[in-house]
Amino acid sequence: MVHAAELIRRKRDDEELASEEISELVLAYAGGEVPDYQMAAFCMAVYFRGLNGRETFALTDAMIRSGETIDLGAAIGRKVVDKHSTGGVGDKTSLAVGPIVAACGVPFGKMSGRGLGHTGGTLDKLESIPGFRVELTTEEFLDQVRDVGLAIIGQSANLVPADKLLYGLRDVTATVDNVSLIAASIMSKKIAAGADAIVLDVKVGDGAFMKTIEDARELAESMLELGRHAGREVACVLTDMDQPLGQAVGNALEIRETIATLRGDGPPDFTELVLAACAHLLAFSDLGVDEAAGRQLASRAVQDGSALGLYERWIAAQGGDPAEDALPTAPVVREVTAPTGGYVTAIGAVDVGMAALRLGAGRQTKDQGIDHAVGVRCLKKRGDSVESGEPIAEVHARDEASAGQAADEVLAAYGFGDSAPAATPIVLETLG
Ligand code: URA
Repeated sequence: MVHAAELIRRKRDDEELASEEISELVLAYAGGEVPDYQMAAFCMAVYFRGLNGRETFALTDAMIRSGETIDLGAAIGRKVVDKHSTGGVGDKTSLAVGPIVAACGVPFGKMSGRGLGHTGGTLDKLESIPGFRVELTTEEFLDQVRDVGLAIIGQSANLVPADKLLYGLRDVTATVDNVSLIAASIMSKKIAAGADAIVLDVKVGDGAFMKTIEDARELAESMLELGRHAGREVACVLTDMDQPLGQAVGNALEIRETIATLRGDGPPDFTELVLAACAHLLAFSDLGVDEAAGRQLASRAVQDGSALGLYERWIAAQGGDPAEDALPTAPVVREVTAPTGGYVTAIGAVDVGMAALRLGAGRQTKDQGIDHAVGVRCLKKRGDSVESGEPIAEVHARDEASAGQAADEVLAAYGFGDSAPAATPIVLETLG
C-alpha cells in the first residue's frame, strides 16, 4: 500500500525518494489507486524540488512499465531509428525526415502526438490529407514499416498510459515545464515505442517550452542520460524556435511545405534542419555511414526524387491521397504587408502560433475539431529586407472577419529595424 501523502511531504521537504517508492506511486496512480489531487501535489513538489538523475530514471521506468512496450528492431529484423521534437510552431520536420530516411533504405517507425497549446501536432497535420489513417493496429504498423519502410501513427492507448494521465494532469496544474517531468514524459514514450536509436530535437526560444539555451541543454542532458540508461543510442540537436520554422504554420499548409521540401524547394531553415536530422539518423542506422555521408545520401534522395516517391507510397499505404491538389484550401487568403521598409528583426513564434490556432488550425479546448485548411505563411523571415507595402505574410482563413483579426495579430508579431539582426543558425548545438 503506497503512502502517497508521506511521499508528497518528503519530496516537498526536498528529500530524495527511493526508486521503489517512485515506482509504487506511479503504478498506483496509473491503476487508479492514487487520486489526481495527490498526484498533482506530488508533481508540484517535484516542480519546486526537482528529481535527481536516479529519481528521473525511476519515474521514466515506472511510466514505461505502466503499459505495453514494442521491440521494433526485433519485429522488423533491422535497426530502427526514430526522432522526436519537444514541440514548436511550424514544426513539420518528421514529415520530411521520415520519407528521406526511408528512401535511403533505413526503416522509420514513429508514434506522434497532437497539437498542444500554440504548438502544432504531427497527427493533426497528417489528418489534413484526405483519407489518411493515423490509427493502425500494432500489426499494421509493423507490416508497413517492413513493406514501405515508413509509418507514422498515433500513440497506441496501451503505450505508457501513466504519461497520458500525468500529462493531462500537468497540463491543468501548471506543472508541465519542469525538466525532469518533460524528460521522463518524452523518453518513456520513445523507449516504450522501441526504436534502437533516437534523434531528439530540443526547441529553444519564444515558441518552445525551453526559453533559454541553458534550460534546453539541461533537458537535453537529462534525456540523453535516460536514453543511454535504457540502452538506446541518442543524439540531441538544440534548435532555434524564436521564430516559426519554415514559412507555413497550419496543417494542410505545412503538408504543402513538406512536399515542396521533398522536391528540393523548401525554405532554407527548414531544409537545413531536415538534412541535419537525417544525417544523424542515417549515421545511427545500420548503413555504416558517418554523418557527412549520411547528409550526402539524404540530399541525393531529395535530388533524385526517391524521397518524394517514398512520401507518396507512405501516404497511400495509410489510405491517404498524396496529390498536393487533394489538400484542402482556405476560401480567404489575405496578404499582410510591411508597414515600413528595413529588415525583419523578429517574428514572435507564440504569437504566430496563437494566430493560427485562433483561425482554427489548433484546439482551444480539448475536444474541439480542427480546420485543416487555415493558417499562416510567413513569407519574410528574420534577417530578410523588406520594402514598405511588400507582402511579408499570408493569412489563410475560413472567412473575412477571422482573416482580418489574424492579419492584425501576425503583423503585431513582426518586428522591424534599420539593420539586419545577427544571423542565428537553425541548429544551435548538438549534444551526444
Ligand atoms: N512533450 C511531451 O511528450 N511531454 C512533455 O512533458 C512535454 C512535451
